[in-house]
Amino acid sequence: FSAVDVIRAKRDGFALSDAQIDWVIDAYTHGVVADEQMSALAMAIFFNGMTAAETARWTQAMISSGERLSLHVSRPTVDKHSTGGVGDKITLPLAPLVAACGAAVPQLSGRGLGHTGGTLDKLESIPGWRAALSTSEILDQLSSVGAVVCAATEGLAPADRKLYALRDVTGTVEAIPLIASSIMSKKIAEGAESLVLDVKVGSGAFMKDLASARTLAEALVAIGVEHGVRVSALLTDMSVPLGRAVGNAVEVAESVDVLRGGGPADVVELTVALAAEMLSLAGISADPAAVLASGEAYEVWARMIRAQGGDPDADLPVASHKHVVEAPASGVLSTLDAYAVGVAAWRLGAGRARKEDPVQAGAGVLCLAKPGDSVEAGQPLLELYTDTPDAVPAALSTLEGSFTIGGEVSSRPLVIDTIR
Ligand code: URA
Repeated sequence: FSAVDVIRAKRDGFALSDAQIDWVIDAYTHGVVADEQMSALAMAIFFNGMTAAETARWTQAMISSGERLSLHVSRPTVDKHSTGGVGDKITLPLAPLVAACGAAVPQLSGRGLGHTGGTLDKLESIPGWRAALSTSEILDQLSSVGAVVCAATEGLAPADRKLYALRDVTGTVEAIPLIASSIMSKKIAEGAESLVLDVKVGSGAFMKDLASARTLAEALVAIGVEHGVRVSALLTDMSVPLGRAVGNAVEVAESVDVLRGGGPADVVELTVALAAEMLSLAGISADPAAVLASGEAYEVWARMIRAQGGDPDADLPVASHKHVVEAPASGVLSTLDAYAVGVAAWRLGAGRARKEDPVQAGAGVLCLAKPGDSVEAGQPLLELYTDTPDAVPAALSTLEGSFTIGGEVSSRPLVIDTIR
């Protein structure tokens, strides 16, 4: 094969053959196909798409570029993947909850980039907690605790790691077949028998409109089915931040509240909805709302954190500086834009602009009111936390126009639809 022939075929609107796909992924992984050639191919895919068969094969080729874990544990294995949002800490209460209900939950996660936070960054605000585990540590913890949230091991879908970094700098992230194969190659390589996808839609999500979120969800589910994984997708709202806390340590604290039977209603609702779907795919009959209320999920959380060197009882880091945004008028808060809050938290230091940047554990935004709440003029609406007060003006300018007092409150439900 020649890379130029493969690029021309896709440029001219043809479907790639299985052999072409296998070759180009393998050759790219090994440096035989150059970055500039792969970026031309990714751009041709962006414009001309891939068929369901091509996408399935592309995914398979990326899985085959590395190892596929075999999770030999006695319980059914089930995982969740979110396409990313603002205040999306759901993995933190969800993994221990589903484990407390009898499943084994391997959650190999990533770090945040841009305005969406990363699960590992959040957990790393817990003193002592360690994200990097070996495959044997992952398997041991799955058996002993039932839940593990850690960094994806180097050997999982290395082709995707290389391709995703390339897409990031060539304007080719936003192609549904490439997004779907990227996500599913990592999740299938991780080896869980069942997978629930939380496909977010709204300003704080990758997919801003319902039609494109639905197309992505359908593509993800189709790849899972093709690979023998029991899979479904929830389409969920991401026009408003999830819960009140957006950041790292503040999101851990909110997750612990949920695990202790409290916490914001939307976080509890989505945690329970995703748990119910995961348990249904795993063939376990349990009542996740009751298990959450019983405190058993908190017990699994504490064991999960300890197993990775963390102290679940330690005080969490607090930012040195706080700035309050007050409500400018009285009335019902009708909107609070997830994207703006996500960018503000990022600017305050909760997120990173480049992969190698550090994040601040204590930085973030607390949303003291959510759409539907009545507020009085002068009441604190948002609290901004940072160790770098110089960042506050930029965060404040991002937040200008990010909320409305008075007007219609959206009636869109949190869980918009389920795709099976
Ligand atoms: N997340 C991924 O893992 N891959 C993509 O392509 C987009 C989002």
